[in-house]
Amino acid sequence: MTLTHSRQSTGDADPSRTGSTDPNLQAWVDEIARLTEPDAIVWCDGSKREANDLSKLLVASGQLIRLNPEWRPNSFLARTNPKDVARVENRTFICSNDEADAGPTNNWAEPSAMRAELRGVFAGCMRGRTMYIVPFSMGPLGGPISQLGVEITDSPYVVLNMGIMTRMGETVLTMIEAGEPWVHTVHSVGYPLIDQSGITRPEVEWPCNDDKYIVQFPDTREVWSYGSGYGGNALLSKKSFALRIASVMGRDEGWLAEHMLLIKLISPEGGVFHMAAAFPSACGKTNLSMLRPTIPGWKVETIGDDIAWLRQGEDGRLWAINPEAGFFGVAPGTGETTNPTAVSTMWGNTIFTNVALRDDGDVWWEGLTDKAPDHLIDWQGKDWTPDSGRTAAHPNSRFTVAAAQCPSIADDWEAAGGVPIDAIVFGGRRATNVPLVAQARSWKHGVFMGATISSEKTAAADGIVGELRRDPFAMLPFCGYNMADYWGHWLKVGKELGTNAPAIFQVNWFRKGPDGAFIWPGFGENSRVLEWMIRRIQGTADAIDTPIGLLPAEDGLNLDGLDLSKEAVDQLFAIDQNSWLAECDLTEEYFDKFGDKVPPALRAELASVRYHLKD
Ligand code: GDP
Ligand code: PGA
Ligand code: MN
Repeated sequence: MTLTHSRQSTGDADPSRTGSTDPNLQAWVDEIARLTEPDAIVWCDGSKREANDLSKLLVASGQLIRLNPEWRPNSFLARTNPKDVARVENRTFICSNDEADAGPTNNWAEPSAMRAELRGVFAGCMRGRTMYIVPFSMGPLGGPISQLGVEITDSPYVVLNMGIMTRMGETVLTMIEAGEPWVHTVHSVGYPLIDQSGITRPEVEWPCNDDKYIVQFPDTREVWSYGSGYGGNALLSKKSFALRIASVMGRDEGWLAEHMLLIKLISPEGGVFHMAAAFPSACGKTNLSMLRPTIPGWKVETIGDDIAWLRQGEDGRLWAINPEAGFFGVAPGTGETTNPTAVSTMWGNTIFTNVALRDDGDVWWEGLTDKAPDHLIDWQGKDWTPDSGRTAAHPNSRFTVAAAQCPSIADDWEAAGGVPIDAIVFGGRRATNVPLVAQARSWKHGVFMGATISSEKTAAADGIVGELRRDPFAMLPFCGYNMADYWGHWLKVGKELGTNAPAIFQVNWFRKGPDGAFIWPGFGENSRVLEWMIRRIQGTADAIDTPIGLLPAEDGLNLDGLDLSKEAVDQLFAIDQNSWLAECDLTEEYFDKFGDKVPPALRAELASVRYHLKD
């Protein structure tokens, strides 16, 4: 093995860096290189030139298709292996020292046994490839809530995506060298180009491995990911660090790392409010973060679309940042009528994954336009026509684009100290039972609402789409420690916030009528629900107390100009006593899985809901 420590693979760039003066970083890079045996090591500087060189490299090897610059400048299409299209939850592990810390909702493996297994899997896995060192910051550089990380990866596709999704490059290395703490993350696609006996094999369009590992070591703040190139499994800044590892940091340090979008709301009177909302993957975070209100005078500005880090500020309120710098959004369903802001965000400089290719060299997916083009190349590279009987884009196809390109991005979206939160919203995808909106009676009741969210499964993870599952706080796949301890942590944070605590709401855009169609029009019309929340916070909207929470009073929700029958509205808010009593039984069963770790306050909330239902 020769370690050239050069930038040869990125073309003609200067070999500006050949190592780090930080002994820990250098020792770790050397150790991973010895284990994985790459041909070359490249220290990424985060420059435009570097990104250009990498995209050229990937186009030349057939791993990216350059889109027609006339329609989509500096944009690319990647097609994954059909077996590598989503997060793999059954191969995701939380390897805490103590099994009880992972809890019943995470896969656990004993850390030293897992380390030994990973050493075996990673041995020689980068042969014939270049190993990239990707330094990144989650949150604005040097911000009080921000954190640093380094991802080692053998995937140039990952480097390009990380350059969009994080603040990546040389400055971060300088900060690490000045002594800032950082999180270690290692990723390999698991497809060496040279085998143990020195025999080479050709590169493929999407290298990956059937054997996959997404492993978090929360006690040492480390991530190891193997075998997948898909965003949620391979962009380790995102779900692995900013949620799984960061949730543990938050538990230990008194803050929150959440699967939440962040928005700024401006009322017709000029009042400014901030909201954080948690919905499971592919349940509407990106859409809500870019919402264009249909009601006059209201404005929504985007701060984040997927992850929020929240901390109590000096003024006693809860402040939040978006730790990311880009969006990794679901393409299907994103169109001019549903999310025009997202569509204009992706005008260029965008990486598309598993969408369809048009004959004119642009992209298409279901929902981008009402009518599909007559001919496309589908996400698997096959000819497609509207009567093919299959979708042209994969249901979990994605776009990666810089947040700065979003026309609705708030001026202060990069404020280092974040924005003060007025409301927290929990949601899921529920065809039945759950009303359009309900307000929690208290912080404790809100935590109960978050803890008992269930949602129909989507294409964002492997498994059966549509199956109902519990997804507390939309964190089921992302909580790095015992979920019941996490509920306890939320209760503790609420206690500290006291009267400064934000109001908590629950929403469901996805309730269906007897005809099986969504009752609520959703998207821009969701602004009506946001308006009600703000009016509740201001104390100007009435609510009726129901066993499950506070619902808009008769005529409380602004439905002006909306073509929705009285019957439909009743269906949206119907609370069926028997179904809810049955939900309570399921909640009790669910709580019992966590044994005596369930905070007594949540058991008390359940008892209270039951009591009122039986009233
Ligand atoms: P995220 O993964 O949580 O960010 O979810 P997205 O915002 O990307 O939305 C996922 C899917 O849900 C897309 O197909 C959207 O079109 C759809 N969706 C989002 N908001 C709504 C809504 O208010 N109503 C309905 N019916 N669908 C929605
Ligand atoms: P999201 O998840 O749907 O919440 O954006 C991204 C992922 O699948 O990792
Ligand atoms: Mn999203």
